[in-house]
Amino acid sequence: MKVPFVALNKQFSSLENSLLSKFKKIGKSGQYIMGDELKSFEKDFSSFCKTNYSIGVGNGSDAIVFALKACGINYGDEVIIPANSFIATAWAVAACNALPVFVDINDDLNINPELIENKITKKTKAIIPVHYTGKIANMDLINKIAKKNNLFVIEDAAQSIGAMYKNKMAGSLGHFGCFSFHPLKNLGLYGDGGAVTVQNKKNFKIINMLRNHGLVNRDLCLIWGYNSRLDEIQAGFANIKLKKIKKWNTKHRNIALNYINNLSKKVIVPEEMNYEKPVYHNFIIRVKNRKKLINFLSEKKIETKIHYPIPLHLQPVSRDLGYKKGDMPKTEKFSNEILSLPIYPELKEIQLEYIISSINKFYA
Ligand SMILES: Cc1ncc(COP(=O)(O)O)c(C=O)c1O
Repeated sequence: MKVPFVALNKQFSSLENSLLSKFKKIGKSGQYIMGDELKSFEKDFSSFCKTNYSIGVGNGSDAIVFALKACGINYGDEVIIPANSFIATAWAVAACNALPVFVDINDDLNINPELIENKITKKTKAIIPVHYTGKIANMDLINKIAKKNNLFVIEDAAQSIGAMYKNKMAGSLGHFGCFSFHPLKNLGLYGDGGAVTVQNKKNFKIINMLRNHGLVNRDLCLIWGYNSRLDEIQAGFANIKLKKIKKWNTKHRNIALNYINNLSKKVIVPEEMNYEKPVYHNFIIRVKNRKKLINFLSEKKIETKIHYPIPLHLQPVSRDLGYKKGDMPKTEKFSNEILSLPIYPELKEIQLEYIISSINKFYA
């Protein structure tokens, strides 16, 4: 048996007819940018996330940049982010000429809110909690700290479409929610895509301008903006996929719960609280003898990945930010132990059982 880490082509096959007819429909319409497909997606996506507005953008990285710009983040400002994320979270801060300030994580792989206040200075303007692997960060505490210190909260919800925390949706818990529709995400498109969710009309208008050259209408430009829109074809595909996301997320959750129940005696598995519903974009375990396990699984044709082997503060690009090894003990320790297992709606039960029995065999 073979278990690839992802199987995007399988999902394509199951949607092929509806995707092709959507493509034809858009092709024939002659409207390829900012048309009805985008409008319809934005309406449905904000209602899915239970926010007042959503704005489709070119990718999840730009979504964060636009949220930061809407907060007025600029040269010399500081923005608090976890040391454990995809590089885009830090890049978005740097792209606004601001400084990413890293904070260590908790066992849940999310930012440790207890360590945030120590990092707040007069220059701090915002916190970006990353809902890593589709598990929402401790938003009660983060929002409390933000309120006390007058900071913006920008959720990096790239990995957490549909995730719930105390009956609230990812993207509805801060001032802004930033989503990615990169092909590998739970709602992945056939190229790049993203969205920002907001509650407030003023921010909605600003982000609408930022994604479209700063234009307020065809002829009038109010601010320096970007060319970063969710195009009609990707929005059309997103409309098809948004109808499936609840079902797919349930499959992710079922696979994750199966892993949790059957692997917890041998490796460290994620702990799920009764007030949350993570969507397990990735399923990350922590293991001993990682290299040997990876090789053992690879011999059995089970593909695994590491998200991510190098913490943000130790990336070469961060060298001028003044961090060193030892500054983020948990992030650094975990970067040597974490391992992502295959998880996608098309994963067959027999494949799942094969992965579980192989890991248990390795540690037997
Ligand atoms: C946590 C996180 N933030 C931001 C991004 C950036 O999204 P995109 O690749 O759509 O720019 C990603 C995904 O790639 C991500 O995983």
